[in-house]
Amino acid sequence: MSDTLRVGLVGCGGQTRMNLAPAFSRIDSARLVSCADVDEARARQVADAFGIEAVHDSVAEVTESPRVDAVVVAVPHRYLKDVALSAIGAGKHVFIEKPMGLDAVEGAEVVEAADRQGVVAMVGYCMRYSLSRMYIKSLLDRGAVGDVSFVAAGKGGGPLGGWLGGPWTEGGGQLFFLGSHLTDQVLWMTGDDAESVSGTVRWNAGGTDETSAYTVRLKGGAVATFSVSQACGVGFDFVYVFGTRGRVRGDWKGDVVTVESRVIPEYAHPTVLRIPGDNLEEMCYRELAAFVEATRSGARAPIPVSDGLRVLRVLDAVVESSNTKRWIDV
Ligand SMILES: NC(=O)c1ccc[n+]([C@@H]2O[C@H](COP(=O)([O-])OP(=O)(O)OC[C@H]3O[C@@H](n4cnc5c(N)ncnc54)[C@H](O)[C@@H]3O)[C@@H](O)[C@H]2O)c1
Repeated sequence: MSDTLRVGLVGCGGQTRMNLAPAFSRIDSARLVSCADVDEARARQVADAFGIEAVHDSVAEVTESPRVDAVVVAVPHRYLKDVALSAIGAGKHVFIEKPMGLDAVEGAEVVEAADRQGVVAMVGYCMRYSLSRMYIKSLLDRGAVGDVSFVAAGKGGGPLGGWLGGPWTEGGGQLFFLGSHLTDQVLWMTGDDAESVSGTVRWNAGGTDETSAYTVRLKGGAVATFSVSQACGVGFDFVYVFGTRGRVRGDWKGDVVTVESRVIPEYAHPTVLRIPGDNLEEMCYRELAAFVEATRSGARAPIPVSDGLRVLRVLDAVVESSNTKRWIDV
C-alpha cells in the first residue's frame, strides 16, 4: 500500500456529497481516487467537486480496482451488503454506511467476509463521534451515574421520502435509517448488549415503519426503551441514562447535555452544558480519520462491523416481536 490511502467511493448521493467526500478531502493521509454511482451524472458531480479522476457507473470498477485500497459504501440500504461484499472480496478495507444490511443474516455475511479477508471493516455510526455524545460516554465510563438502571432514548422527525419512504422489506423506514443509529448509541454508551426485545411497530399503508416503540433488556440487567418515528413535526434525538448514582441526558441537535451526579462533585446539582461543534460533516471527519488511521496502523476498526450486526439483530427482533406480540431473545 502506498503512503496515502487511496479511497474509492460507491454511491454518490446525499451522504457522500455533503458529508463523506468533504470530510475525506480534509484528511491528509487519504486521497479520493475513484467514484461510482449507477447514476453516472451523480458520480461526475462528486468527481468534479472533489477532484476525483476516475468516474464510473459500474461498482466493480471501484471495488476491484488495483488503484483503490479502501472503499466507502454509501448506497441505499438494500444494496449495502452486496457492494460491501464485493469490496471485501477484492481485499479492500471498507467503510460501510449504517445499517450495513437489511437483517442479521446480511450483517453476518459482512462480518464473516471481513474476518476471512482480514481487512479493516467499519460501520458508519457517526453519532459516536458527536462531541456531546463522546462527553456523555466519558461521564458514564467515569461512573457518573453509578450502575445503569434504565435508559430512555428517541430519534426521529418528519416523513421520509425517496427510497427511504419505501417498504421496510426493501430497506425503507425509520428503524433502518435512524433507529439503527439510536440502538447503536445506547449499546455503545452502556457498553452492554441486548438480551431480549419487545416492540410494537405502526406500519403505514406502503409497508414502511412509521412509529416504533421497543424495550430492550440488556445483558447487564438494565432496561432500555426506544421511540423511533417519522411522524413528528420536529426532528429529535435524545438519550437519557439513569443509574444508581445519577442521570445524564443528551439532546442532539442543540448539543445539550444535562447531568446530575452523586459521584462527580461539580455535577452534584442538575447542570446543563452546551457542547457545540456537532454537525454531520464534523462527525464524519472524525469517524473517517479514525477509519484511515486503523488502516494505517493495522488496528481493529473503531466501530467494527460486528457492532453493526448486533444492531441488526435488535431491529430484526423489534419487527418479529411486533408481528408475534412476544418477547424475542436476541
Ligand atoms: N451516518 C449518517 O448520519 C447518514 C446520513 C445520511 C445517510 N446515511 C446513509 O448513507 C447511505 C446512503 O444514503 P444517501 O442519503 O446518500 O442516499 P441517496 O439516495 O442520496 O444516495 C444513494 C446513491 O446511491 C446510488 N446507488 C443506488 N444503487 C446503487 C448501486 N447498486 N451501486 C452504486 N450506486 C447506487 C444512487 O444513484 C444514489 O446516488 C445509507 O446507508 C444511509 O443510511 C448516513
